Amino acid sequence: MEIKIAKNAGFCFGVKRAMKMAWDELQKSDEKIYALGPLIHNKQAVLKYEENGLNTIEKVSEVPHSKNMIIRSHGVGEYVYKESEQKDINIIDTTCPFVKKIHEIAKKYHSDGFKVIVIGDSKHPEVIGINGWCNNEAIIIKTLSELDNINLDKNKKYCVVAQTTINVDLYNEILEALSNMLDTVVFNNTICSATKVRQESAKEISREVDMMVVVGGKHSSNTQKLVQICKTFVPTLAIETVDELTPNDFIGFEKIGLTAGASTPDWIIEEVVSFIEKL
Ligand code: F3S
Repeated sequence: MEIKIAKNAGFCFGVKRAMKMAWDELQKSDEKIYALGPLIHNKQAVLKYEENGLNTIEKVSEVPHSKNMIIRSHGVGEYVYKESEQKDINIIDTTCPFVKKIHEIAKKYHSDGFKVIVIGDSKHPEVIGINGWCNNEAIIIKTLSELDNINLDKNKKYCVVAQTTINVDLYNEILEALSNMLDTVVFNNTICSATKVRQESAKEISREVDMMVVVGGKHSSNTQKLVQICKTFVPTLAIETVDELTPNDFIGFEKIGLTAGASTPDWIIEEVVSFIEKL
């Protein structure tokens, strides 16, 4: 049986970096380290980190004075840094550099008198964080039709940024509409290519194999998107961990392709690979 692994499977650059930084801190510290929100949407990975001293909390107020706190790759608003400083909390900042860049844009334009528009999901932690760099005054839109319900002032200056994971077609549609509606508007395409690249790799490998295995959370939307893509080419198995596989699943297939969602750690992927290799 031959196994082919997609070129861009699993963690993106930002999540890989954040998870490594968090792991390194846990290894060198004897004390508990607090994480503001779940580090990642993968329960096996979070459990592994928690067994090594990570304590996931929801608010800065839950962190004791002068302890260590991890900010995850999604980033947070400026107020979190200020609140932490008041409590003398040591921040381990794993915010993805691409998200950090959006914070800088939002802060700069807001202080220059621009109104910031964020294209994204207002409930997503990344967007909540971005809004926290422009005094929580951003206009947040998720769809083109939402523009109809927003009061925009032609005499004002606007600055547009995008949540890193939104679809580029949506961004372009909103860009076109806003260009027609406003006189002064600065667009910043802050979409990260990692999601698209992972999907392209899944497509590419699905064409070369008899069957695909997609590893990732059942509730992870980017994993489910990969499953959909692969299914259009070959029979596809969607699993969270190796425990869901049996040798019978592979009867009648010779070339197996493998990919994984953005929050699937390498060690979970490796366990699946070694299971298939042993068949
Ligand atoms: Fe990942 Fe950072 Fe892009 S977290 S999806 S590399 S913005």
